[in-house]
Amino acid sequence: MSATSPIRAVLPPDIRARKGQSPLVVLTAYTTPVARLVDAHCDMALIGDSVGMVLHGMPSTIGVTMEMMILHGRSVVRGLQKAMAVIDMPFGSYEESPQQAYRNAARLMAETGAPCVKLEGGAHMAETIAFLTKRGVPVMAHIGLTPQSVNTLGGYKVVGRDGEANLVMEDAQAVEAAGAFSVVLEKVPMGLAARITQRLSIPTIGIGAGAACDGQVLVVDDMLGFFTEFRPKFVKRYADLGALASDAIADYAAEVRARTFPSDEHSFVDVLKGKQP
Ligand code: KIV
Repeated sequence: MSATSPIRAVLPPDIRARKGQSPLVVLTAYTTPVARLVDAHCDMALIGDSVGMVLHGMPSTIGVTMEMMILHGRSVVRGLQKAMAVIDMPFGSYEESPQQAYRNAARLMAETGAPCVKLEGGAHMAETIAFLTKRGVPVMAHIGLTPQSVNTLGGYKVVGRDGEANLVMEDAQAVEAAGAFSVVLEKVPMGLAARITQRLSIPTIGIGAGAACDGQVLVVDDMLGFFTEFRPKFVKRYADLGALASDAIADYAAEVRARTFPSDEHSFVDVLKGKQP
């Protein structure tokens, strides 16, 4: 392969250039089959560290490891043809120093094929974001509610009400100045999200941040009704696959117990040659 041949159809500069155009559509994906579904309709597939809670039953994203992200990242990238993959840096893989962040971001990109990373944090992560972007690692920032900080934030609350609004605006401006190509706004009041979107020259991707953002992201298992442990207010259920799957599993169990599955249709006939065992 020539070093100049295109690797993927969509890259971070293309996403950045979508500012002010039609809304960017983003869903999480953690597996190849779901990545294929997302690819058909979305601009980006986020390999979110939400994978820990959604697929692995963890109580938060704190325990998600680099190895988990790499395994799921590879599987998602295999399922994408058009949409751009964005991969989350897990808790503990980037906060210590810009050098640590670079080492782990480079590993995530090299071992999965994702062309960029996402990391949580605003002004306090600006130095790291600048370090990464100057060295070939495009960064999507994530501010507002940052779930990896649940233990210091004291829960999954709305961030940016009252006196906090200035801090969220400062975070947004800091990550933009540091070179982030886009920023996720999670659980930020919609008026504030609209003002941030207006002020920044990079696209804002909202999750629980209102309709004025340049794009929207949801956790795919939430919107499909597959993850039902809890449902944040910002999740709209577009399907109830959990209930469908439960009904299907109940039907299977009943048919096995009644010996009506497998029928002849799902069995193989004997080929009668000579003496049978
Ligand atoms: O991990 C994730 O799925 C995320 C989205 C909620 C933005 O970070």
